[in-house]
Amino acid sequence: MNWKERIYCGELRPTHAGQQVLLMGWVDAIRDHGNLLFIHMRDVRGTVQVVFDPTFSSRSYTLAASLREEYVIQVKGRVSVRAAGTENPNLSTGGVEVFAGDLEILSESRTLPFPISEKAMVFGEELKSNPANVDEDLRLRYRYLDLRRPSMQECFQKRYQIVRTIRDYLHTLNFIEVETPFLTKSTPEGARDYLVPSRVHHGRFYALPQSPQLFKQLIMMAGMDRYFQIVKCFRDEDLRPNRQPEFTQLDMEASFIDEEFIYEIVEDLTVRIFQVGGIQLPRPFPRMTYQEAMERYGNDKPDLRFDMAFEEITDLVQDTGYTIFRQILGQGGIVKGFCVRGRADALSKNVLQNEYALKIAPEMGAKGMTWMKVVDGKLQSNIAQFFGPDELEGIRSRFNAGEGDVLVMIADTSRDLVNKVLSQLRLHMAERLGLIPADRYTPLWVTDFPLFEKKEDGIGSQHHPFTMPDRIDFDPKNLEELLSLKSRAYDLVMNGEELGGGSIRIHRMDIQQKIFESLGMGPEELESKFGFFLRALEYGAPPHGGLALGLDRVIAMILRMPSIRDVISFPKNRSAFCPLTEAPSLVDTCQMQELGLGSTPEDSRDDSPRSAGAAKVHRPVAQKRDRISMDEVKHVARLARLKVSNEEARAYQKDLNAVLNHFEVLQSLDTKNVTPMSQVLKTANVWREDVPAEKEDTESLLESSPVREKNFYKVPRILEG
Ligand code: AMO
Repeated sequence: MNWKERIYCGELRPTHAGQQVLLMGWVDAIRDHGNLLFIHMRDVRGTVQVVFDPTFSSRSYTLAASLREEYVIQVKGRVSVRAAGTENPNLSTGGVEVFAGDLEILSESRTLPFPISEKAMVFGEELKSNPANVDEDLRLRYRYLDLRRPSMQECFQKRYQIVRTIRDYLHTLNFIEVETPFLTKSTPEGARDYLVPSRVHHGRFYALPQSPQLFKQLIMMAGMDRYFQIVKCFRDEDLRPNRQPEFTQLDMEASFIDEEFIYEIVEDLTVRIFQVGGIQLPRPFPRMTYQEAMERYGNDKPDLRFDMAFEEITDLVQDTGYTIFRQILGQGGIVKGFCVRGRADALSKNVLQNEYALKIAPEMGAKGMTWMKVVDGKLQSNIAQFFGPDELEGIRSRFNAGEGDVLVMIADTSRDLVNKVLSQLRLHMAERLGLIPADRYTPLWVTDFPLFEKKEDGIGSQHHPFTMPDRIDFDPKNLEELLSLKSRAYDLVMNGEELGGGSIRIHRMDIQQKIFESLGMGPEELESKFGFFLRALEYGAPPHGGLALGLDRVIAMILRMPSIRDVISFPKNRSAFCPLTEAPSLVDTCQMQELGLGSTPEDSRDDSPRSAGAAKVHRPVAQKRDRISMDEVKHVARLARLKVSNEEARAYQKDLNAVLNHFEVLQSLDTKNVTPMSQVLKTANVWREDVPAEKEDTESLLESSPVREKNFYKVPRILEG
């Protein structure tokens, strides 16, 4: 292969006109003009039009007639400037075309499961089918084809550029990249662990790391000063568009530093990587305490692209004539709300009362919702008459409400519930009214998180137990005091999404022990979970701290992708399944036995003297799994011209899988040495009981039965799984 001569399709420009070039790539699209054949030829750098003209090379023209989409070809040809009016501004190469001399087919392709081409061959023409509309599971099943799409290629080029920017930047600050183990012990990040059984130590398991938290702290204790790693983390948790069971973190840690060091370098780094996507971030990033975020936005990751911050009006309505507020306040409750500026027209009385107050707010957990509008300088609503003029004026001025503004208020005995519902309503209304500017980026540091949070069985760390508290003179037995402690933790939030989080760590054994004591962890539990780590704290640990950015989330935001699945090369689908490899999959009984896991009836038979020495049969362990994917159900439905809803497809999938799982159980039963138990069944015509069974029919049906006596047949017992 003459790779030295190769020129990339996407690099051809009018300056190449007249040159002979050698191109290698894929057939993106074909257009047959009868006497001329045009193809779009695509490689990693772009697409160019190649023309097969029988007068130029009749051999190539004939061979080109057999080309299909995604064939891999090599073309030698001459670059020519396109005739005026035939340029294609959709292509960076749209000013030129290549007249093919030689054509070689390097490999063929089957018919594609979905279209790949993203470039119309004629400028202004619509694509026949948009690959972006293809069912995601089908795309993931053929991910290597999905990744061939130019938009996906660009996405991964950009991902690489972002990762390089990170490495280059951290290198200049003397951070070094150190790898930490994947086969390790559980790390307390709050999700379930993925466990890996050990073959050598039966009954023992490695845990895949939820983060390299403990190891990066050990690296600091090892004196490495500044560490980073672009690393996979594994968390078995409920999936959302911004969550994957395995995802990538930019993990960092540094010694002899404080929060300001982290803010400075992470801001600098974030600004640089957002620039890769052409996004300029304002610096310094604003900061907000956790408490302020909860009180003003009901959320520890507020979306600041729009305002609508909350105001409390409890003090203004203590003696109001509005019974609902009075009763709730009488029970120690509160009233809070937000103002939607200038949207009184869009939020009609009907929408506010019948949709929000009666349906949406109660679905979010509120008992009701109160609304008011400023019309002709006065607050109006269905309940405004129950408020005195001073109360109304107080409310209007608290929200700084002007003409056309709408106030939305929630009252409840629980402050947390009020904040939670208002937070959801704020987002709901902003989305509905189109108040969230898509091209605005609003970074924010959220700080001063509570160190502990209430759990059903006591308290737990809000971040992780290695986070330094704001003070160390607390009593580990005083629950109230513990719940009032703040941590030296910080989250980086952007547009309502948590991009990263970290903290200054505990570097002294006495403080760490106090935290574990507060968490009610006894010496045995401590030793078994963190013994190795606590010992390290006793040998001179430097003050240190760090942070981890969720790299997939950051990249998805920079590249304006709706889900992190779009920026991960081979992601799992929404149910943590890989449609490409079909992982997780069944394993061999032999593999299971080697790992000391589970046992099947076969195991005991194999160990029995009767079968001693016999070769082991490799059979899959019968366990429930999805053999048929939703994708396959939908595919079969399409073939059968059946229109099925997602719900129906799921029901079919469930039933089919149950049938196949049952078959598998039956297949795994060894009936070889089972003596058939004779059972006497009288032959009967089951369709017409009044008509006797035809002798001949019965004979043909039961001709393989082992024993026959007069009008009866003895058949083997049916084994039940
Ligand atoms: P934390 O648990 O906050 O902190 O994780 C850091 C960041 O990782 C991203 N993230 C995820 N991304 C995709 N899928 C997931 N399932 C997922 N879970 C988390 C988020 C999050 O902000 N060891 C600490 C960091 C430290 O203290 O230095 C940690 O892992 O963007």
